[in-house]
Amino acid sequence: MLTANLLTALLAPGVLSAALYPRQDTDLDGFIKTESEVALKSILNNIGADGSAVSGASAGIVVASPSKSDPDYFYTWTRDAALTLKVLIDDFLAGETSLESTIQDYISAQAKLQAVSNPSGDLSNGQGLAEPKFNVDETAFTGDWGRPQRDGPALRATAMIAYGNHLVSSEKEDVVKSNIWPSVQNDLDYVAQYWNQTGFDLWEEVQGSSFFTIAAQYRALVEGSAFSKSLGETCDGCDSQAPQILCFLQSFWNGKSVVSNIADNGRSGLDANSVLASIQLFDPKAACDDVTFQPCSARALSNHKQYVDSFRSIYNVNSGKDAGTAAAVGRYAEDTYMGGNPWYLTTLAAAEQLYDAVYQWKQQGSLSITETSLAFFQDLDSSAAVGDYASNSDTYTSLTAAVTKYADGFVSIVQQYAPSNGALAEQFTRDDGTPASASDLTWSYAAFVTAAERRAGTMPATWGASDAKVAETCEGSSAEGSYTAPPEVGSW
Ligand SMILES: *[C@@H]1O[C@H](CO)[C@@H](O)[C@H](O)[C@H]1NC(C)=O
Repeated sequence: MLTANLLTALLAPGVLSAALYPRQDTDLDGFIKTESEVALKSILNNIGADGSAVSGASAGIVVASPSKSDPDYFYTWTRDAALTLKVLIDDFLAGETSLESTIQDYISAQAKLQAVSNPSGDLSNGQGLAEPKFNVDETAFTGDWGRPQRDGPALRATAMIAYGNHLVSSEKEDVVKSNIWPSVQNDLDYVAQYWNQTGFDLWEEVQGSSFFTIAAQYRALVEGSAFSKSLGETCDGCDSQAPQILCFLQSFWNGKSVVSNIADNGRSGLDANSVLASIQLFDPKAACDDVTFQPCSARALSNHKQYVDSFRSIYNVNSGKDAGTAAAVGRYAEDTYMGGNPWYLTTLAAAEQLYDAVYQWKQQGSLSITETSLAFFQDLDSSAAVGDYASNSDTYTSLTAAVTKYADGFVSIVQQYAPSNGALAEQFTRDDGTPASASDLTWSYAAFVTAAERRAGTMPATWGASDAKVAETCEGSSAEGSYTAPPEVGSW
């Protein structure tokens, strides 16, 4: 029974909504610790055959969300699955040995899926590899959809190569050649053959050329080339096409930000697509290179500012949050899907890019501000000026602290709008931050794990960004691929 006093207390500003939407109330470090555990567990809950939230999914199949209606995400997307597995593989390499059987199940499942004919095509000319999603029992999804999506094969190759490199360094080349290389080869050949054709973007809405897709394709061919050599194999298409893909990637830059889609879609082009691409291209050994849009590059920082600022005035939850203060961010300002709200994974990506950048400055022992990145830094410190600052300078110390604090602010927003059990849906509403759209989105959890790891200084392996070679003249091109059904994955 409510006493009058308790009722008054409940009606005090802020308290009622806190009672209705119990939220995490520990400090940020405490939240990150518990949420990291929730996130990893929740990822595994969404992977068949044993995942508790996805009964009916085959072994190694990563389901996007347990939600079966409004929206129905009970499918496996090649993109979401590959991004999630890259997180699990990096965790495994960092010591989570219990994840290895899940990784192997994923690789077996993808080898099967590659040979499943689907509405994008089949394996004979590679076109079926870019089918965006499948049923959770490994059959084709035959409904209407935005297809093909050409980032899938690239992201899948990147995930498999990360595990393959580990096995090669453990002197298991034979296992890699029989269980991993046949699938990776198909995906690399696909990218080398089709990168210069349009497709649907990562949000499955825009037909055109997507910055994220081109970025993922470039990375896959660079590491694919090295991977093939480590096995005594070749990837001629990797070597001939990568410089052209990187050349094309430059054309998305408008001087201030990334135009995320080259398409006739009437949008500004500011889109989480670009921040996710910078994270995808992050190489802990790379300098702050503009050509590969490294997280600490002037281009990527300027883009970060333009992207985040585009949400400040359109979301009620951002009211009063001026430039330089972390804000809730979504896919793109014009978004209307399921309310066009902020997303957890994009808000986490905004944090992750900045943690990556801080790591890169520490590695190189300096931080530079150029005309391009000046506005980003001035939001955090109005006295920031163009120049090079060595790690023993006060300016370096205060700016890296300010960027870290700014990054933490994005994670704090996720903390503020996550329910007390740590469940992460796809979105939280622009009005009051209530969780919205698909529940327990696998990608939301994967994004949490990586942001938390980058904050803690746990980094993925290098992929060779430092050797970036841009073709002197951009030309449309293609390398004819050859495709064979991967043999059934055998013992490891
Ligand atoms: C193909 O590449 C050329 C050269 O970079 C570029 O101008 C063109 O827009 C590209 N087309 C697609 C669809 O990727």
